[in-house]
Amino acid sequence: MARPIVAVVDLAAIAANVARARQLAAGAEVLAVVKANAYGHGLQRVLPALAGADGLALVELEAALSLRAAGYAKPILLLEGFFEARELVPIADAALGIVVHDAAQIRMLETASLTRPLDVYVKVNAGMNRLGIAPADVASACERLARLPTVEGLRLMMHFARSDEEDGIAEARTRFERACAGLPYPRSLANSAGVVRFPEVGGDSVRPGIMLYGATPFPFDTEPPIRPIQVINAAYTFAAEHPEVLAYVPCYCGCERGGHRGNDDCFVMARAANGDVTQWEPHGMT
Ligand SMILES: Cc1ncc(COP(=O)(O)O)c(C=O)c1O
Repeated sequence: MARPIVAVVDLAAIAANVARARQLAAGAEVLAVVKANAYGHGLQRVLPALAGADGLALVELEAALSLRAAGYAKPILLLEGFFEARELVPIADAALGIVVHDAAQIRMLETASLTRPLDVYVKVNAGMNRLGIAPADVASACERLARLPTVEGLRLMMHFARSDEEDGIAEARTRFERACAGLPYPRSLANSAGVVRFPEVGGDSVRPGIMLYGATPFPFDTEPPIRPIQVINAAYTFAAEHPEVLAYVPCYCGCERGGHRGNDDCFVMARAANGDVTQWEPHGMT
């Protein structure tokens, strides 16, 4: 028999988190990151909850094409762009935006012939060292791209490597701004951590991912908390019946009780003067 574990995805919480990202990044375009099947939640399932976003960003071309086939009409950005020249044809046909992070992609765009020009985000390697054009090469890459008939508009982007850390923004941002100095294109910098904690990062568009799905990117909660969207029913049922395991049960219950800091605060309704729990909150699971 399968273990009776059920994950409930609260679409209203996702929608609320999109609204929160929009509010925090006031004036910026919000591209909801839905890579890896919406961080495992099921892209088609969560799509209605992302209606408040201005567009979507993901890695997988097939998923982007499915979104278009299903009628999704807002901007879709491919966060790693393309890997082979032949992918450019379906990308153009589906009017997808692409990230360009590598010289080989620029060469492919220079020789491609497309049904329509593409929106291109030039990704600067500002310290993540995963993808990105070296800061010294950014201006010349933009110059080459701006000349191409395959390119509609240019934007500049970067991805923070350590935006969940207190000092994780400044250095990368400086590198990015230096690399982009004088370039007249819109900017896209912030992921969730940038949106939630470092609004001064700014930019013309933001790319929140994990925060939409109810997780804080930090080892502490934010105020107000990001709304959790998953409730592991079986775990709560078990914890309500076996309070001794509380410390091991992740609290995603969404009770948002004031002062909540962890599982005990969540499940404990009252304590005696000696600290013993006198009343448990079973979260409606018993
Ligand atoms: C380029 C890019 N932007 C934004 C994000 C979203 O990041 P987060 O989930 O930390 O908000 C990702 C996710 O890995 C990404 O690769």
